[in-house]
Amino acid sequence: MNNFIFQNPTKLVFGEGQIAQLAKLIPADKHVMMTYGGGSIHKNGIYDQVKKALCNHQVSEFGGIEPNPEYETLMRCVAECKEKNIDFLLAVGGGSVIDGTKFIATAIKWDGEPWDFLLRPLPTGQAVPLATVLTIPATGSEMNSGAVISRRARKEKLCFFNEACFPQFSILDPTAIYSLPQKQVANGIIDTFVHVMEQYLTYPNNARVQEYWAEGILKTLIEVAPKLMVNQKDYDTCANFMYSATMALNGFIAMGVAQDWATHMIGQEITAFHGLDHGVTLAIVYPGVLKIMREEKRDMLLRYAEQVWGINSGAEEDRIDQAIACTEDFFQSLGVKIHLSDYNIGDDTIAEIASRFAKKKVALGEKQTITPERIVEILNQVK
Ligand code: NZQ
Ligand code: ZN
Repeated sequence: MNNFIFQNPTKLVFGEGQIAQLAKLIPADKHVMMTYGGGSIHKNGIYDQVKKALCNHQVSEFGGIEPNPEYETLMRCVAECKEKNIDFLLAVGGGSVIDGTKFIATAIKWDGEPWDFLLRPLPTGQAVPLATVLTIPATGSEMNSGAVISRRARKEKLCFFNEACFPQFSILDPTAIYSLPQKQVANGIIDTFVHVMEQYLTYPNNARVQEYWAEGILKTLIEVAPKLMVNQKDYDTCANFMYSATMALNGFIAMGVAQDWATHMIGQEITAFHGLDHGVTLAIVYPGVLKIMREEKRDMLLRYAEQVWGINSGAEEDRIDQAIACTEDFFQSLGVKIHLSDYNIGDDTIAEIASRFAKKKVALGEKQTITPERIVEILNQVK
């Protein structure tokens, strides 16, 4: 196990009806900016619950943050927050609203062009305090310090990390899942699954607790996914899914282990060029990563086959083949198509993505062995 330092300051407030806790969780003297997306919270009653809980607070609102939150939109909110002297941000939504709010919180305190802190690591960690009401389990953004921001005019999608952007608290009410389009449930399951894999399926780290935690989350997802596909309104199933998503990317399973993240980096570029949902890009790229990196990942692939899918007999190569096939079948069982051609993405995009990584001179993966040439191999594998 590698050395590590761990701290996660986010308070979790979990369960049905917990949105009412907002009244007590946000200090009464704060001027709150409530941020949200395209309006789903108006239809499912979450907006009304938040407003009711904050009826004695001074609350302003900024709606319209789009999936894959857009820099231009967020900058409008930054200007409004500065004008109104906002001193608390409440994100009510999914990863896009939460990430957008982390950007806003950081940009308010940033002197200069905010895009700069997406291009290089933040020198300081300042931000306006923020909290979240989560409406879609997927990204884990409700309990981490990262955010991913898009700038469509430049076909860019980049991430940043700011310690000051850990939400002060996050409210997780599993009944929010009841109103999700099935496509978003599928995206959330895939995103959670691949978050775990990026931190688990590397090389052996002798980190038993983290490995068993990771396998526990994967097995939970495999158990709840078919149930969610037929009934999205079973409370316990939704609760287990929601908790899985948070635990997949809040730092717990990352302690002391190597991490991959190649699939996310490549997937982000596919979204930047073609606008695909984040979860969909992962379902396309991840099987390619497993196939091209199977030698480097051999030991953990065998462990994954046995512990997660119960594949424990036969030749090693067959067990690995079966584990990769199970992963592909799992994604497809959620109604997601897993080939680039299903989305009319061809060789030109593959070449553009490889050339972007070549220009940045970065190699991806747990051992930085995924060069631009290997990215081409990975994407050719999933054409
Ligand atoms: O905008 P509204 O109208 O609210 O609709 C949203 C949106 O259209 C809808 N939705 C959300 N909750 C709903 C609901 N519809 C009905 N009922 C509800 N309860 O779902 C759609 C997608 O929302 P979005 O927030 O975009 O989804 P998600 O949570 O998957 O977030 C994706 C973004 O997060 C980034 C992704 O790159 C992408 O930009 N990620 C952030 C990470 C992080 N901060 O740690 C890590 C992830 O790997 C990921 O990269
Ligand atoms: Zn993700």
